[in-house]
Amino acid sequence: MAEPSQQAADDREPILQVRNLVKHFPLTQGVLFKKQVGAVKAVDGISFDLYRGETLGIVGESGCGKSTVAKLLMNLERATAGEVFYKGQDITKLSGRALKAVRRNIQMVFQDPYTSLNPRMTVGDIIGEPFDIHPEVAPKGDRRRKVQDLLDVVGLNPEYVNRYPHQFSGGQRQRIGIARGLALNPEIIICDEPVSALDVSVQAQVINLMEKLQDEFTLSYLFIAHDLSIVRHISDRVGVMYLGRMAEIGTDEQIYDHPTHPYTQALLSAVPVPDPEAREGRERIILTGDVPSPANPPSGCRFRTRCWKAEEKCATETPLLAVPERFRGTSTPAAHESACHFAEVKDVVGAA
Ligand SMILES: Nc1ncnc2c1ncn2[C@@H]1O[C@H](COP(=O)(O)OP(=O)(O)OP(=O)(O)O)[C@@H](O)[C@H]1O
Ligand code: SF4
Ligand SMILES: [Mg+2]
Repeated sequence: MAEPSQQAADDREPILQVRNLVKHFPLTQGVLFKKQVGAVKAVDGISFDLYRGETLGIVGESGCGKSTVAKLLMNLERATAGEVFYKGQDITKLSGRALKAVRRNIQMVFQDPYTSLNPRMTVGDIIGEPFDIHPEVAPKGDRRRKVQDLLDVVGLNPEYVNRYPHQFSGGQRQRIGIARGLALNPEIIICDEPVSALDVSVQAQVINLMEKLQDEFTLSYLFIAHDLSIVRHISDRVGVMYLGRMAEIGTDEQIYDHPTHPYTQALLSAVPVPDPEAREGRERIILTGDVPSPANPPSGCRFRTRCWKAEEKCATETPLLAVPERFRGTSTPAAHESACHFAEVKDVVGAA
């Protein structure tokens, strides 16, 4: 990062430090003799910190690279370049035993509780599966009790241990997914759209459970979601991604009430605000055009093809993620990192 992070309390310790992380998926042509003809730049130089005990929300349109970031942090995808430091150790370079040891501390909760649980396994076996890889956490004779404790922790009846996934509702299945994520006592949980597949009424229950567990076990969450209001509710800080890069990052108050990047302003402007008084005197931004292909992103600022403020400089110079010069050293909420040459606060209004 070009600038030290100002949006987080400096006395807090980062548990994960992501530096210039890149993932390019090769684009190939030919059937027998495959030739690389380009690359999908799914993640293209992302840096951020995750602090102990905090929730960092990640938002952005479909295809901007959120899930790829999640997989890179879990080392499920190998990074093309860049580093992910966990307690000072670059996990992108690890393999074998060392990787296994780190993985225990970084777990994931997936979007779809219907497809992420094996329908042929009992709930007990699903939640206890991580113990096969890490038997030191729960010796064989102790497993059933451990699994039942986990069911209890996520608000499910411990007697359900022999049931199958189809015997549960969507919300209950996501609780099972969370119990499995907790099995190895991790420090970090990467949540990729954990409530997007659930009914609105159930979403709040699962979010409340996640918040309770965070306090109980001092968990750090990276919380990926489309829904900006859910992200605001759960996050301490929020990062806004656009086409493989981070456009803006700050506390939830900085991002939601004082966004300085045109993309964030446009995203917030699309969130419905039912109160007509709250809409008064504010500008409404309608984002036009599609997201360009990550195989052929625009030069300079990636948002420039959809930005109403774009100037020539935006095509030739890539804006760095940094506190804008005009706000540097000030205590205004606008003093947070934003990758825009012309970052400024704008009073935007949500859609009716
Ligand atoms: N294994 C892969 N091979 C090639 N391209 C990929 C692969 N995985 C992802 N991509 C591409 O990388 C880009 C980012 O995908 P990603 O799944 O990270 O987006 P996302 O932000 O999670 O989107 P969504 O909100 O729809 O889940 C997309 O253009 C996608 O098509
Ligand atoms: S750098 Fe230019 S194109 Fe990019 S967001 Fe800022 S004003 Fe718009
Ligand atoms: Mg995704």
